[in-house]
Amino acid sequence: MLLKQANWIVSKEDWKDVCPTFCKQFQVDGAIKSAVLLITALGVYEAELNGSRVGEFVLAPGWTDYNYSLQVQEYDVTAMLKEENCLRITVGRGWFNGRIRREEVAYIQNFQNESNALLAALKIIYQDGREHFILTDEDWSSCPSAILCSDIYDGETYDSRQENAQPSHGVKVVGINKSILAPQRGEMIREMERIKPVSLLHTPQGDTLIDFGQNLAGYVEFKVKANAGDQILLQHAEILDKDGNFYTGNLRTAKQEINFICNGEEQVYHPHFSFQGFRYVKLVQWPGEISLDDFTAIVVYSNMKRTGDFSCSDERINKLFQNIVWGQKGNFVDVPTDCPQRDERLGWLGDAQVFVRTASYNFDVEKFFSKWLYDLKTCQYSNGSIPYIVPNVFYYHEASAAWADAAVICPWQIYLTYGNKKILEQQFESMRRFIEYVKQIGSSPYLWDDGEHYGDWLALDAEEGSYRGATDDFLIATAFFAYSTSLFIKAGHVLKQNMTEYEILYENIRKAYQEKYIDGGKLTTQTSLVLTLYFKLYRNENERAKMSDQLAALIHEAGDHLTTGFVGTPYLLHALSENGYSDLAYKLLLRDEYPSWLYSVKMGATTVWEHWDGMKPDGTMWSDRMNSFNHYAYGAVADWMYGVMAGIQTDETAPGFQHVIFRPVTNSEISTVSASIETRQGRVSSSWHKEGNKTVYEFVVPCSATAHIDDQTYELGKGQHVITV
Ligand code: BGC
Repeated sequence: MLLKQANWIVSKEDWKDVCPTFCKQFQVDGAIKSAVLLITALGVYEAELNGSRVGEFVLAPGWTDYNYSLQVQEYDVTAMLKEENCLRITVGRGWFNGRIRREEVAYIQNFQNESNALLAALKIIYQDGREHFILTDEDWSSCPSAILCSDIYDGETYDSRQENAQPSHGVKVVGINKSILAPQRGEMIREMERIKPVSLLHTPQGDTLIDFGQNLAGYVEFKVKANAGDQILLQHAEILDKDGNFYTGNLRTAKQEINFICNGEEQVYHPHFSFQGFRYVKLVQWPGEISLDDFTAIVVYSNMKRTGDFSCSDERINKLFQNIVWGQKGNFVDVPTDCPQRDERLGWLGDAQVFVRTASYNFDVEKFFSKWLYDLKTCQYSNGSIPYIVPNVFYYHEASAAWADAAVICPWQIYLTYGNKKILEQQFESMRRFIEYVKQIGSSPYLWDDGEHYGDWLALDAEEGSYRGATDDFLIATAFFAYSTSLFIKAGHVLKQNMTEYEILYENIRKAYQEKYIDGGKLTTQTSLVLTLYFKLYRNENERAKMSDQLAALIHEAGDHLTTGFVGTPYLLHALSENGYSDLAYKLLLRDEYPSWLYSVKMGATTVWEHWDGMKPDGTMWSDRMNSFNHYAYGAVADWMYGVMAGIQTDETAPGFQHVIFRPVTNSEISTVSASIETRQGRVSSSWHKEGNKTVYEFVVPCSATAHIDDQTYELGKGQHVITV
């Protein structure tokens, strides 16, 4: 790789928080055939060639586990070159060395103080065949940029009077290990949508706010003409409090603040190395008249193609679905994060694991997850344990059940949705190491009954003041151990591996689970029953029926409400509808009193909340400490909308929708449902509507399908099919 010949450079001066710009002036002498610019940085960078931005990648080079991989971007700049050229590349702290990098971060071990370091190479090929290389080295120069400071959490301070400073300072070459350089594996992060404000608000406290009408991740672009030295200060928030005032308590220490100093000309600005999670923007300082035309929210996320859609006769469900899609946009900024606003924004595995199926139907995330899972594999601990978050910025810890299981569940789902076994080949050894690790934990190789776990995170049956629900942590852990082992076996079969050893292991885990938890009378919570049913850990149909009745009884006892948290909720409706209780599943979905999915919709949500009661009916907040209004985890219910309401399901024996299974389940409260997924084979769609006492089903099939309607089975070929029942 050409970059191996270039040198890592940093600025000679220490400008503290100010982001350095690195410059190189050069001439070309002849007609150019091609010019390719390769760049990466320890931090985040933006490049400009002859005054124009190079490429569209926001926050390049993206977020990977920098201990093991640092992506390099490649830009075709042939059309941008002139005779005399000026290349300027500004580097911010980004994920590498911003506040998101915890004190304990593992990669500190591999790096000293190489923050804001740049590595670049330009390769020009002339028409006559000559080659010309421009590589970062000590001949480059540097200057402080107009970005006085920038941080993913805190926002940016920008003094536009400092733009285009002369590069009158030197650079130094630093020795950073180039073995971490990697090709661009993920989707690039881009400005994906632009949203205009819906209103200008004046709050009871006297603040002036812009409401964009949608909670999102990205930044505000504004146009301003004011005197040189005039200041602008913007703050961002997701929600207003009960009195209609600007509320930032839930951001914890993340400032989400933009400071801008004007230069006297008409200017258009948006932050460079930071993004905010927001719906409302407070104009703390704004020079002159406010015109909404001058503001645009730019929605920033990974360049994923939208593939899935869902709608039905209940507008509240449609809004919930849209909120789920927005939750995915806001949290798929190179890494699947828990939330995009507070001082967290981390790649939590549990959240990604519960949402992966929904994510893979809504958008094409094959590349996105392949990159993230590659990182998961590389930062897996040497004993096989899996970090809580990827990229990992925490110290070593034992794996937490349902979080660590992302190592198996995510690749398996990506395989099912897209039908490409490469992801299984890439992750198989990582899965195996994880299963082997769990075997070592606990009182026997078949029970995962030791360690620290997040449990049924945020479940409502938790003790007062606890984040962990009432379901036994080790029951959850052993249930997931069984489930992950079963998926690992399937992956092994796809890859034609001999899985006998793990088939025996699986049977032993099931047996141990049944003895300890089923016979031990531990199935006392909704989540414990949901897991046992969904993972098929019961012994026989009798036990299964008993557990299904028990689950329904617990739901009735709770006033026909769910009490589940992160672990139980994603499977709750499936566990009901697969076991004779689809009406109860529909009932839970259609409720709009707390706690329910539609409660937040009724409260005006535009994304999915972290807590069932993030905001209480009287407008007060659950708490400041852990209260994101853009957390996609509970949005996993969309896979029930696609898979049960519309009934579109993958077939494990013909993944990637080479053969589709349709199993729609109707309900008296809903009169129409329609869903579609753009698959690798073409468009799959399923819809139904009621006509008198009949239901008319319509399916579009790209290859072949089997439809199960009531007790009838229909084999369908490629094309459109209408079945009236
Ligand atoms: C995150 C969650 C995450 C959890 C671990 C939280 O702070 O926001 O979504 O999974 O920690 O339990």
